[in-house]
Amino acid sequence: MDVLEAVAEKIKESRYLVAFTGAGISKESGIPTFRGKDGLWAKYDPEELASWRGFLKNPKLVWEWYTWRMDLIGKAKPNPAHLGLAKLEKVGILKAVITQNVDGLHRRAGNKKVLELHGNIWRVKCVSCDFKDKVKEPPKEVPPKCPKCGSLLRPDVVWFGEPLPRDVWTEAVMEAMKSDVLLVIGTSGLVAPASMVPTMAHQRGSSIVEINPEDTPISSMAEIKVRSPAGSFFKELIERLRI
Ligand code: OAD
Ligand code: ZN
Repeated sequence: MDVLEAVAEKIKESRYLVAFTGAGISKESGIPTFRGKDGLWAKYDPEELASWRGFLKNPKLVWEWYTWRMDLIGKAKPNPAHLGLAKLEKVGILKAVITQNVDGLHRRAGNKKVLELHGNIWRVKCVSCDFKDKVKEPPKEVPPKCPKCGSLLRPDVVWFGEPLPRDVWTEAVMEAMKSDVLLVIGTSGLVAPASMVPTMAHQRGSSIVEINPEDTPISSMAEIKVRSPAGSFFKELIERLRI
Protein backbone atom coordinates (compact mmCIF):
# COMPACT_ATOMS: atom_id res chain seq x y z
CA MET A 1 0.00 0.00 0.00
CA ASP A 2 1.42 3.41 -0.90
CA VAL A 3 1.33 6.30 1.53
CA LEU A 4 -1.55 7.99 -0.31
CA GLU A 5 -3.67 4.85 -0.03
CA ALA A 6 -2.72 4.43 3.64
CA VAL A 7 -3.86 7.98 4.50
CA ALA A 8 -7.06 7.58 2.46
CA GLU A 9 -7.89 4.35 4.32
CA LYS A 10 -7.12 5.92 7.69
CA ILE A 11 -9.45 8.82 6.92
CA LYS A 12 -12.24 6.56 5.68
CA GLU A 13 -12.04 4.41 8.81
CA SER A 14 -11.90 7.38 11.19
CA ARG A 15 -14.82 8.20 13.46
CA TYR A 16 -13.55 11.56 14.70
CA LEU A 17 -11.02 13.17 12.41
CA VAL A 18 -9.33 16.39 13.55
CA ALA A 19 -6.61 18.46 11.84
CA PHE A 20 -3.82 20.40 13.55
CA THR A 21 -2.11 22.89 11.26
CA GLY A 22 0.84 25.28 11.18
CA ALA A 23 2.51 27.73 8.84
CA GLY A 24 3.57 24.99 6.37
CA ILE A 25 -0.02 24.49 5.18
CA SER A 26 -0.06 28.08 3.87
CA LYS A 27 3.37 27.91 2.24
CA GLU A 28 1.95 26.92 -1.15
CA SER A 29 -0.36 29.94 -0.87
CA GLY A 30 2.77 32.11 -0.85
CA ILE A 31 2.89 32.86 2.86
CA PRO A 32 6.32 32.29 4.41
CA THR A 33 6.77 29.96 7.38
CA PHE A 34 8.63 31.02 10.54
CA ARG A 35 11.47 28.54 10.86
CA GLY A 36 13.93 27.17 8.32
CA LYS A 37 16.28 29.03 6.01
CA ASP A 38 13.54 30.97 4.15
CA GLY A 39 11.51 31.41 7.33
CA LEU A 40 10.52 34.77 8.81
CA TRP A 41 12.55 34.20 11.97
CA ALA A 42 15.72 33.83 9.88
CA LYS A 43 15.31 37.46 8.79
CA TYR A 44 13.43 39.05 11.66
CA ASP A 45 13.77 38.94 15.41
CA PRO A 46 10.64 37.53 17.08
CA GLU A 47 11.53 39.36 20.31
CA GLU A 48 11.33 42.70 18.46
CA LEU A 49 8.26 41.96 16.33
CA ALA A 50 6.14 39.45 18.17
CA SER A 51 6.37 40.23 21.84
CA TRP A 52 4.79 42.70 24.19
CA ARG A 53 8.24 44.09 25.02
CA GLY A 54 8.97 44.70 21.35
CA PHE A 55 5.59 46.40 20.90
CA LEU A 56 6.18 48.74 23.84
CA LYS A 57 9.61 49.59 22.49
CA ASN A 58 8.52 50.33 18.94
CA PRO A 59 4.81 49.95 18.12
CA LYS A 60 5.31 51.56 14.70
CA LEU A 61 7.88 48.96 13.64
CA VAL A 62 5.69 46.10 14.88
CA TRP A 63 2.70 47.51 13.00
CA GLU A 64 4.74 47.97 9.83
CA TRP A 65 5.64 44.31 9.98
CA TYR A 66 2.01 43.28 10.51
CA THR A 67 0.91 45.59 7.70
CA TRP A 68 3.36 43.85 5.36
CA ARG A 69 2.04 40.46 6.42
CA MET A 70 -1.59 41.58 6.07
CA ASP A 71 -0.86 42.69 2.50
CA LEU A 72 0.74 39.34 1.72
CA ILE A 73 -2.03 37.33 3.35
CA GLY A 74 -4.74 39.49 1.76
CA LYS A 75 -3.43 38.59 -1.69
CA ALA A 76 -3.02 34.89 -0.88
CA LYS A 77 -5.62 32.26 -1.71
CA PRO A 78 -6.40 29.00 0.05
CA ASN A 79 -4.48 26.14 -1.60
CA PRO A 80 -5.63 22.53 -2.19
CA ALA A 81 -4.72 21.59 1.40
CA HIS A 82 -7.04 24.23 2.91
CA LEU A 83 -9.71 23.40 0.32
CA GLY A 84 -9.33 19.67 0.97
CA LEU A 85 -9.89 20.16 4.69
CA ALA A 86 -12.99 22.24 3.93
CA LYS A 87 -14.34 19.45 1.75
CA LEU A 88 -13.63 16.84 4.43
CA GLU A 89 -15.62 18.92 6.91
CA LYS A 90 -18.48 19.47 4.46
CA VAL A 91 -18.97 15.75 3.92
CA GLY A 92 -18.98 15.21 7.70
CA ILE A 93 -15.65 13.41 8.09
CA LEU A 94 -13.52 16.20 9.59
CA LYS A 95 -14.81 17.49 12.91
CA ALA A 96 -12.46 20.40 13.65
CA VAL A 97 -9.37 22.29 12.53
CA ILE A 98 -7.02 23.43 15.27
CA THR A 99 -4.60 25.96 13.79
CA GLN A 100 -1.61 27.99 14.90
CA ASN A 101 -2.00 30.21 11.85
CA VAL A 102 -3.33 33.75 12.06
CA ASP A 103 -3.97 34.07 8.30
CA GLY A 104 -7.64 33.06 8.33
CA LEU A 105 -7.22 30.85 5.24
CA HIS A 106 -9.05 27.88 6.78
CA ARG A 107 -12.23 29.91 7.16
CA ARG A 108 -11.77 31.44 3.71
CA ALA A 109 -11.52 27.90 2.32
CA GLY A 110 -14.90 27.13 3.90
CA ASN A 111 -14.15 25.40 7.20
CA LYS A 112 -16.66 26.30 9.90
CA LYS A 113 -15.13 24.77 13.00
CA VAL A 114 -11.73 26.46 13.20
CA LEU A 115 -9.95 26.90 16.51
CA GLU A 116 -7.34 29.63 16.12
CA LEU A 117 -4.85 29.12 18.94
CA HIS A 118 -2.73 32.17 18.06
CA GLY A 119 -5.50 34.61 17.14
CA ASN A 120 -6.21 36.22 13.78
CA ILE A 121 -4.35 38.92 11.92
CA TRP A 122 -7.65 40.40 10.72
CA ARG A 123 -8.66 41.42 14.24
CA VAL A 124 -7.37 44.27 16.37
CA LYS A 125 -7.79 45.02 20.06
CA CYS A 126 -7.07 47.96 22.32
CA VAL A 127 -4.19 47.67 24.76
CA SER A 128 -6.16 49.58 27.45
CA CYS A 129 -9.91 49.11 27.09
CA ASP A 130 -12.21 46.31 25.90
CA PHE A 131 -12.42 47.59 22.29
CA LYS A 132 -12.07 44.87 19.64
CA ASP A 133 -12.70 45.07 15.92
CA LYS A 134 -12.44 43.13 12.69
CA VAL A 135 -10.50 44.68 9.82
CA LYS A 136 -10.48 43.95 6.10
CA GLU A 137 -7.26 45.76 5.25
CA PRO A 138 -4.16 47.04 7.02
CA PRO A 139 -4.51 50.33 8.93
CA LYS A 140 -3.75 53.44 6.86
CA GLU A 141 -1.67 54.97 9.61
CA VAL A 142 0.51 53.05 12.01
CA PRO A 143 0.31 52.53 14.89
CA PRO A 144 -3.51 52.79 14.81
CA LYS A 145 -5.35 54.29 17.80
CA CYS A 146 -8.40 53.05 19.67
CA PRO A 147 -11.55 54.94 18.58
CA LYS A 148 -12.98 54.50 22.07
CA CYS A 149 -10.15 55.59 24.37
CA GLY A 150 -7.28 56.80 22.19
CA SER A 151 -4.75 54.19 23.36
CA LEU A 152 -2.83 52.01 20.93
CA LEU A 153 -4.49 49.22 19.04
CA ARG A 154 -2.57 45.96 18.59
CA PRO A 155 -3.12 42.92 16.40
CA ASP A 156 -5.31 40.35 18.16
CA VAL A 157 -2.68 37.64 17.92
CA VAL A 158 -0.71 35.75 20.53
CA TRP A 159 2.82 36.98 21.04
CA PHE A 160 5.73 35.18 22.65
CA GLY A 161 5.25 34.89 26.38
CA GLU A 162 1.49 35.45 26.17
CA PRO A 163 -1.10 32.85 27.14
CA LEU A 164 -3.40 31.34 24.51
CA PRO A 165 -7.05 32.47 24.46
CA ARG A 166 -8.47 30.26 27.20
CA ASP A 167 -11.78 29.17 25.64
CA VAL A 168 -10.16 28.31 22.32
CA TRP A 169 -7.43 26.33 24.03
CA THR A 170 -9.91 24.38 26.18
CA GLU A 171 -11.95 23.49 23.14
CA ALA A 172 -8.86 22.51 21.17
CA VAL A 173 -7.74 20.16 23.94
CA MET A 174 -11.20 18.58 24.00
CA GLU A 175 -11.24 18.08 20.23
CA ALA A 176 -7.74 16.60 20.28
CA MET A 177 -8.76 14.18 23.03
CA LYS A 178 -11.89 13.16 21.12
CA SER A 179 -10.01 12.52 17.88
CA ASP A 180 -9.22 8.99 16.76
CA VAL A 181 -7.14 10.28 13.85
CA LEU A 182 -5.22 13.56 13.95
CA LEU A 183 -3.79 15.05 10.75
CA VAL A 184 -0.76 17.13 11.71
CA ILE A 185 0.00 19.40 8.78
CA GLY A 186 2.87 21.84 8.26
CA THR A 187 4.03 22.49 11.78
CA SER A 188 7.51 22.25 13.30
CA GLY A 189 5.93 21.32 16.64
CA LEU A 190 8.36 23.57 18.46
CA VAL A 191 6.05 26.13 20.03
CA ALA A 192 4.37 25.28 23.31
CA PRO A 193 1.67 24.96 24.43
CA ALA A 194 0.25 24.44 20.91
CA SER A 195 2.77 21.64 20.34
CA MET A 196 1.06 19.68 23.13
CA VAL A 197 -1.98 19.06 20.91
CA PRO A 198 -0.50 16.08 19.02
CA THR A 199 1.09 14.71 22.20
CA MET A 200 -2.22 14.78 24.06
CA ALA A 201 -4.08 13.17 21.16
CA HIS A 202 -1.39 10.50 20.83
CA GLN A 203 -1.48 9.69 24.54
CA ARG A 204 -5.25 9.24 24.22
CA GLY A 205 -4.72 6.65 21.52
CA SER A 206 -5.34 8.81 18.46
CA SER A 207 -3.43 7.86 15.28
CA ILE A 208 -1.15 10.66 14.17
CA VAL A 209 -0.74 11.29 10.44
CA GLU A 210 2.00 13.82 9.77
CA ILE A 211 2.10 15.75 6.50
CA ASN A 212 5.37 17.67 6.33
CA PRO A 213 8.30 17.47 3.90
CA GLU A 214 10.64 17.41 6.91
CA ASP A 215 11.14 15.49 10.10
CA THR A 216 9.87 17.12 13.32
CA PRO A 217 9.67 16.18 17.02
CA ILE A 218 6.14 14.94 16.20
CA SER A 219 7.41 12.45 13.61
CA SER A 220 8.29 9.82 16.21
CA MET A 221 4.62 9.70 17.29
CA ALA A 222 3.29 9.47 13.76
CA GLU A 223 1.79 6.25 12.48
CA ILE A 224 1.95 7.57 8.92
CA LYS A 225 4.47 10.15 7.71
CA VAL A 226 3.81 11.92 4.43
CA ARG A 227 6.97 13.64 3.25
CA SER A 228 5.36 15.92 0.64
CA PRO A 229 4.15 19.50 0.50
CA ALA A 230 0.62 19.66 1.90
CA GLY A 231 -1.03 21.27 -1.15
CA SER A 232 0.14 18.76 -3.73
CA PHE A 233 -0.59 15.85 -1.40
CA PHE A 234 -4.16 16.99 -0.72
CA LYS A 235 -4.89 17.39 -4.39
CA GLU A 236 -4.21 13.68 -4.86
CA LEU A 237 -5.84 12.70 -1.59
CA ILE A 238 -9.17 14.34 -2.40
CA GLU A 239 -9.16 12.69 -5.84
CA ARG A 240 -8.44 9.33 -4.25
CA LEU A 241 -11.23 9.78 -1.68
CA ARG A 242 -13.68 10.77 -4.45
CA ILE A 243 -15.36 13.40 -2.33
P1 OAD B 1 7.19 26.77 11.54
O1 OAD B 1 7.71 27.79 10.59
O2 OAD B 1 7.88 26.59 12.82
O3 OAD B 1 7.19 25.36 10.82
C1 OAD B 1 6.67 25.19 9.54
C2 OAD B 1 6.69 23.71 9.20
O4 OAD B 1 6.07 23.56 7.93
C3 OAD B 1 8.09 23.10 9.08
O5 OAD B 1 8.14 21.90 9.84
C4 OAD B 1 8.24 22.82 7.58
O6 OAD B 1 9.00 21.64 7.32
C5 OAD B 1 6.80 22.63 7.17
N1 OAD B 1 6.52 22.90 5.75
C6 OAD B 1 7.16 23.73 4.90
N2 OAD B 1 6.56 23.74 3.70
C7 OAD B 1 5.50 22.89 3.78
C8 OAD B 1 4.49 22.47 2.87
N3 OAD B 1 4.44 22.94 1.62
N4 OAD B 1 3.58 21.58 3.31
C9 OAD B 1 3.63 21.09 4.58
N5 OAD B 1 4.56 21.46 5.46
C10 OAD B 1 5.48 22.34 5.09
O7 OAD B 1 5.62 27.08 11.72
P2 OAD B 1 4.65 26.66 12.91
O8 OAD B 1 4.93 25.27 13.36
O9 OAD B 1 3.28 26.99 12.49
O10 OAD B 1 3.69 31.67 16.62
O11 OAD B 1 5.11 27.66 14.03
C11 OAD B 1 4.42 27.71 15.23
C12 OAD B 1 4.36 29.11 15.75
O12 OAD B 1 5.67 29.69 15.79
C13 OAD B 1 3.58 30.08 14.89
O13 OAD B 1 2.20 30.02 15.11
C14 OAD B 1 4.15 31.40 15.28
C15 OAD B 1 5.61 31.05 15.28
O14 OAD B 1 6.44 31.84 16.04
C16 OAD B 1 3.45 32.92 17.04
O15 OAD B 1 3.59 33.89 16.34
C17 OAD B 1 2.97 32.96 18.47
ZN1 ZN C 1 -9.39 51.59 23.95
